Parts: sequence; structure tokens; C-alpha cells
Amino acid sequence: MSSPAVPRTGSAPTSHVEQLVSLACLAPSVHNTQPWRWRYDDGLLTLRADLARRLPVEDPRGRDLTLSCGAALHQLQFAARALGWTTDVQRLPPGQDETVLARVRVRRTGRAVVVPEDLELLHARRTDRRRFTAWPVPAHRLEDLCRLAAPWGVRAAAVNDDGARFRLELLANQALTALELDARRQAEQDRWVGRTGADGIPAALLPDEPDPLQARSRFRPGLLEDTRMVLHGGDRVIALGGDEDDVAGWLRSGEAMSALWLEATREGLSVVPMSQPTEVEATRREIGCSVLGGTFEPHVLLRVGWQAIGRGGLPRTPRRPLADVLEA
Ligand SMILES: Cc1cc2nc3c(=O)[nH]c(=O)nc-3n(C[C@H](O)[C@H](O)[C@H](O)COP(=O)(O)O)c2cc1C
Repeated sequence: MSSPAVPRTGSAPTSHVEQLVSLACLAPSVHNTQPWRWRYDDGLLTLRADLARRLPVEDPRGRDLTLSCGAALHQLQFAARALGWTTDVQRLPPGQDETVLARVRVRRTGRAVVVPEDLELLHARRTDRRRFTAWPVPAHRLEDLCRLAAPWGVRAAAVNDDGARFRLELLANQALTALELDARRQAEQDRWVGRTGADGIPAALLPDEPDPLQARSRFRPGLLEDTRMVLHGGDRVIALGGDEDDVAGWLRSGEAMSALWLEATREGLSVVPMSQPTEVEATRREIGCSVLGGTFEPHVLLRVGWQAIGRGGLPRTPRRPLADVLEA
């Protein structure tokens, strides 16, 4: 996108806001629903949840939807910084309807310093569901990633203990069985998978056959060729959450998830969210108690691991045209 002349100080012109929102919309979202709407008016950018894109069966309270919007809000701030803008974010501004998640003022306070590698990172981040290698992710790397959640007011814990990890796998399997046995859930998920338009998950990004060594997948097999040369076993799990299981917490957890995911991408680590265990309320509660020891309410789980060196890149999931998501 071309960058017209910009004042050294003051609010961002509309063309720059378009650039920022395009970058924000590269954020991950549940089933690639892209459940956000942006409006730019008088120097102020408003982020709204697009409730028509909520998953009423899998996500009745809008947790995944709000996490997705939180990720886009983080990417907006990250992109702004990379392009030399500063942002003032007001989350859940009072006196607005429930769909308004944040208002952001984008300003320039001096000469812009652009950070091209951060912009590249936004484009490079992917959900890569191919099997991780057996190389373990060192505990200190996970702890470093977890620390990135604190500035967002979010709790993060790496599930390192073998017993806790085992309980987590059992609970994740229970949640998958609940998904498989629930025809309405399955039908809702199927509507977003294998699509060819500007949203949903293309079959080309879903592994082509169930992998007996890999954690079970929530999705039916797709077309993504997954070499069976490397053994699974090196993945780790990070849980993100907060004191409450509410919109304010989900929004911040979405921001922290994005911060952590971008940093993991920078380090060559792969991240795949695993949200079905938190979508089933009984397993979400049980994870809070028996895996996290009651320390916080889990909002989402992230699998973290290494992809094999030399593997080809993945195509990008599609994004909706800017005109569909931004009113300026
Ligand atoms: C809140 C949330 C929950 C998600 N849950 C899952 C999941 O359970 N399994 C999965 O494979 N991907 C999951 N994803 C990843 C999305 O499918 C992915 O972000 C989307 O398809 C866009 O692709 P991209 O991340 O490569 O841009 C989730 C993403 C978000 C933000």
C-alpha cells in the first residue's frame, strides 16, 4: 500500500488508518471468522464485535469471538508501532453498546521510525497444523513467552508438569468427543471449513489424514500434505486466562495471545490454538481446577512446538476485503 505524505505530529490520515486496519486484520480468528468491524471517525478508530459472525453453538458467550477481536486489537497496536505511530487504547468504553470493544486514537508525536521486520512478522505468522517435531521446546523459552502476557494483565502458565499435561490431554479428548457427538456443533464447524471465499479455513490448511501419534484434530481431514518423517512429542501447551471469565478478560487475553504468537513466530516456534477444551464449559472448568490448580480462569490454550526445518511455507488463509470491515 502506498504511503502519502504524513504530518510529523497529529492524527493519522484515513489512508494510513486503512493500512493499519489491513495489518490488524491479518490477526488469527476462530475458524477464520474475522468477527470484527472498524470505524474511523474524527481521529478515532472504533473496534466492534461483529455478532453476526459469532458461533452461536460453539461459542455462545462470545469468548472466542472476543479473543479474536483482542488479537486484531493487538496487531493494530503492533502495526502502528512498527510504522511509527503511537496508540491510546480505551477498552470497553463506558456508555457504548456491548459490541464496542475498544476505541483507539492513532497519533504521531515526532519523526516516524519504521521497523520493517515487525511488519514482516505480521505477514509471516500462521496457524500451522502440521505435526511438530520431537525437539522439545525448552522450559525457559516457554516461561519467556508466558512473561509477555503480564503487561496485558493476563495470566499465562506453561503446562510443564507431566501429570498436569496428561490430565489436560484427557480433558482435550473429552471435549473433542463432546464436539463429535453434538451434531449441531459439528454442523456449525463444518460450515466454516473447506470454504473457498474470503473467510473460513481452506481444506488446503487442514492435515490430510488423522495422525495416530498427534493429538486428535477437531477438524475433518483436509488436503494439507503432512510428511510423516518426524515424530510428534515436542509440543508444549500454554494456558492463557485471568481472574474472571468475562469480556474484559477475553479481550486482553486475545491481545496477549497475539503478542506471544508474534514473538514465538520471530523465534521460529509454531503456535496452534486449541480452543475446543475451553468451548466445552465442563472441561474448561476442570482444566482450571485440575490442570491450573485453581490459579486462574482459562480462556484459551496454545500448543507450541517446532516445525521441521526445510518444510515449505503454507499459503495464507484468506481475509475479507477492507471495505467489508472498515467504515471510514
Ligand atoms: C480464539 C481462537 C481459537 C482458535 N481455535 C483453534 C482450534 O481449536 N484449532 C485450530 O486448529 N485452530 C484454531 N484457531 C486458529 C484459526 O483457525 C486461525 O487463526 C484462522 O484460521 C486464520 O488462520 P491464520 O492464523 O493462519 O491466519 C483459533 C484461533 C483463535 C483466534
